[in-house]
Amino acid sequence: MLILGIETSCDETGVALFDSREGLVAHRLYSQVDMHKDYGGVVPELASRDHIRRLTPLIESVFEGSNYSLQNVDAIAVTAGPGLGGALMVGTSTAAGLGAALGKPVLAIHHLEGHLLSPLMATPRPTFPFVALLVSGGHTQLMKVAGVGDYTLLGETVDDAAGEAFDKTASLLGLGYPGGPALSKLASSGDETRFKLPRPMISSGDLDFSFSGLKTAVKILRERHAAADGGLHEKDSADIAAATQAAIVDVLVAKSVQALQASGLAQLVVAGGVGANQRLRSRLNTVAANYRWKVYYPPLEFCTDNGAMIAFAAAMRIDADPHWQQSAAVDFSVQPRWPLAEGM
Ligand code: KG4
Ligand code: ZN
Repeated sequence: MLILGIETSCDETGVALFDSREGLVAHRLYSQVDMHKDYGGVVPELASRDHIRRLTPLIESVFEGSNYSLQNVDAIAVTAGPGLGGALMVGTSTAAGLGAALGKPVLAIHHLEGHLLSPLMATPRPTFPFVALLVSGGHTQLMKVAGVGDYTLLGETVDDAAGEAFDKTASLLGLGYPGGPALSKLASSGDETRFKLPRPMISSGDLDFSFSGLKTAVKILRERHAAADGGLHEKDSADIAAATQAAIVDVLVAKSVQALQASGLAQLVVAGGVGANQRLRSRLNTVAANYRWKVYYPPLEFCTDNGAMIAFAAAMRIDADPHWQQSAAVDFSVQPRWPLAEGM
């Protein structure tokens, strides 16, 4: 089964070709980061227009060097939500057009399901059931994953997502967009013990998160320090970055531990852009070793948005459901807001 995967939910155009027997055949990614950088964040209208420019050439290029052509594709998988409405429309309408032209089914894939299942692309891979920590720019959730399509929400952020906390504090420190990688790079030369930042909701007794207070704390800290010291020096920024990263990571790790203890499961899957953070990875690995749990990550290049995880999620769905063709539809509907699990 050859699946063409298309991802256009935010600021990355991703296309991949996945063969259910051979695995990933090829994938291509075009990041719009340079275009949005000047604005300090993603401009939805610019994102949609750029997806239109990039998508068709990327689809063509994914076949180059392979033994396949569009005619060999058995199904098309496309991110139908959540994400930016206009950006999603570019992917879904292209997929629908291709599906109609080729007479092939089109599967609407949930973006977070793509992230959630992406660690299964690596080896060794987790087995169901496991707990998933989904940490992206728009979502922070803990999920119990009992099987493909069997997801239970354990907890989520009540305000900002972890990625958003990285991005907003990075912007306060004058680092560019996206802030996560820049903040974590600066943090590596900082002293995380110099400033003490709050760990919001760490002892709330549930599995929810809150990160919006952190950016306010960083703002106050930065202003106080800059006023007292005649400006913010490179070392101060690095120490604030390190303190911020430590606070975010501490909360993510503590809640992941609580989720594993509460569910009695011993496998944690980490997915989404923040899952690329090395401090988060090393802290989780240390904790997991102590408890004899296993932690799984997607390959680093598939932590952030990409087409491979969308094609792969479709392959898993097809594999798990003999009647999958019935849920395939050629339509243009997108769901900018789309809960993945019951009760969300
Ligand atoms: O999953 P993703 O690519 O897009 C969404 O679906 O949102 O996640 C993007 C988020 C951004 O907030 C970005 O700053 C963050 O992931 N991120 C990181 C790192 N790499 C990306 N945050 C912390 N450390 C990183 N190394
Ligand atoms: Zn994402």
